[in-house]
Amino acid sequence: MSDLLAKLYPEHMRTLRARADAALTRGGYDHLVIAAGVPRIEFLDDRPAPYVANPHFRYWLPVTKAPGSWLVHTPGAKPKLVYLQPRDYWHVVPEAPAGYWVEHFDIAIVHEARDALAHLPKALARCAIIGADNAALGDAKPNNPDAVLNYLHWQRSYKTDYELAMLRVASKLGVRAHRAAEAAFRAGKSEYDIHTAYLNAVHETENELPYGNIIALNQHAATLHYMDFNRAPPAHAESFLIDAGASFHGYGSDITRTYAAPHASEFQKLIDAVDAAQRGFVAKVKTGQSYPELHIHAHHVLAGILRDQDFIRLSPESAVETGVSSTFFPHGLGHLLGLQVHDVAGFQKDESGGTVARPPGHPYLRCTRTLEPRMVTTIEPGIYFIDLLLGELKNKPQARDVNWAKVDAFRRYGGIRIEDDVVCTEAEPENLTRDAFAAA
Ligand code: GLY
Ligand code: MN
Ligand code: MN
Repeated sequence: MSDLLAKLYPEHMRTLRARADAALTRGGYDHLVIAAGVPRIEFLDDRPAPYVANPHFRYWLPVTKAPGSWLVHTPGAKPKLVYLQPRDYWHVVPEAPAGYWVEHFDIAIVHEARDALAHLPKALARCAIIGADNAALGDAKPNNPDAVLNYLHWQRSYKTDYELAMLRVASKLGVRAHRAAEAAFRAGKSEYDIHTAYLNAVHETENELPYGNIIALNQHAATLHYMDFNRAPPAHAESFLIDAGASFHGYGSDITRTYAAPHASEFQKLIDAVDAAQRGFVAKVKTGQSYPELHIHAHHVLAGILRDQDFIRLSPESAVETGVSSTFFPHGLGHLLGLQVHDVAGFQKDESGGTVARPPGHPYLRCTRTLEPRMVTTIEPGIYFIDLLLGELKNKPQARDVNWAKVDAFRRYGGIRIEDDVVCTEAEPENLTRDAFAAA
C-alpha cells in the first residue's frame, strides 16, 4: 500500500500547491500558513478533548497526531513543515517524520511550541493563517480568510488519485469491522459487545474513528444517532442497524448496514426493497446529476416502497408533496465525504463561496451540489418508524392514508438505513463500500 501512496503522492502535492497558489492570489496573500492545532481543554477542567488535527493540515501529509506543528506554503518554494517534538515525559512525543512524504518538505524540528514562531514567515500580515483560535502563537493568529478558505474548500471536493486511494483503504477497514459486527449480532451479543467487536476488528480507538459508532438493536434504530450501547442483549433481537466507519491517514469511511433476525422475514422484505432502491440511487451518481434532485427522487422511490408494501395508501407524489415521505425518511440522502465525514463545501455555489439553498421542506439535506468527477458522496436512504414523527403524522389529514396496524407492528424494528461511499467518475460510479464488501 505505501508503495502505491508513494507513487501517487507527488501528483497530489503538485495539485495542492497549485490550489494553494490560486487561493493566495484570490485572497491577496503571500503565504499559506496552516496550524495543525492543539487539543481543546474541557471547561473548568485540565482534561483535553480528543485531538483532531486541522483537516487542512491532514490534506498535505498523512500525519494525524502532531499537535503544535505548522505548515507553510509559499508559491515557488518547497513547502515547509515546522514539526513540534516537545520535551515531554507526560505524553507520547510524535515520532520523527518518516515515510514517502518527508522529501517533499523542508522540515524544521522544534522542541518548544513557541519556537515554531521563528520558523513562520516574518510578514504575518501577508499570511493567510488557517486554524482554530486556540492554535494562535504570539502574533500568528489564525485569520481564516473567506476568499482563501472558500477556494480551498471548493477544490477539496475533487479528490486526487492519492486521496481516492486513501478512501478505498478506509472503506476496506470499515467493511472488515462491519463483518465482525454482523457476526456479533448473529451471535446474540449486546450493543456494547457488538461495538467492542467492531473496535477489535477495525483496530482503531474510538477517538481515531471518523465518527462515533451508531449501533442499534430493535427499536433503538429509530433514533438516527443512537450511541448509548446497551450493555445487556435484548430478550429478542429483531433487527440491527450499524453506522460506523474507519480512518486511514486522516480520511474516513461512513458505512451503514441494517440486518433482520432470521425470523423477521417481513422486515427483511423491507430491507431488500430499500437495498435495491439504494443501488438505484448509487447508479445515478454521475456527472451533472443534481444532488438535491437525487434526494427528492429518493423520496419518491421510498414512498413507492411504502405504498407497495402497504404501509401507506397514497401515491408517491402525494406522499412527497404532503410530507408523509419525510415521516419515514427524515434525513438527507447523503453528503460529501473526505477528510471530514461531513466534508466541506456541501452547499457551496462556486469556488468563490456562496450557498445553494436546500429544497424547501428538506432541512437536513447536507449537499446541494451538482456532481462532477472526483467528488465523493455518501448515498444513505432510510425508512424508519419513529414514535415522535408518527405521532405528528397521526394528527394530520393524511393519517387516514396510513395502515397503522402494519406501521405499529414495525416499530419494534426501529428502522433501516443503507449507506455506501461513492465516487463520481467520468463514467460509471465507483462504489467504495460495495467493492470492499465484494472483496471481503
Ligand atoms: N454517520 C453519520 C452520517 O451518516 O452522516
Ligand atoms: Mn453519512
Ligand atoms: Mn453514516
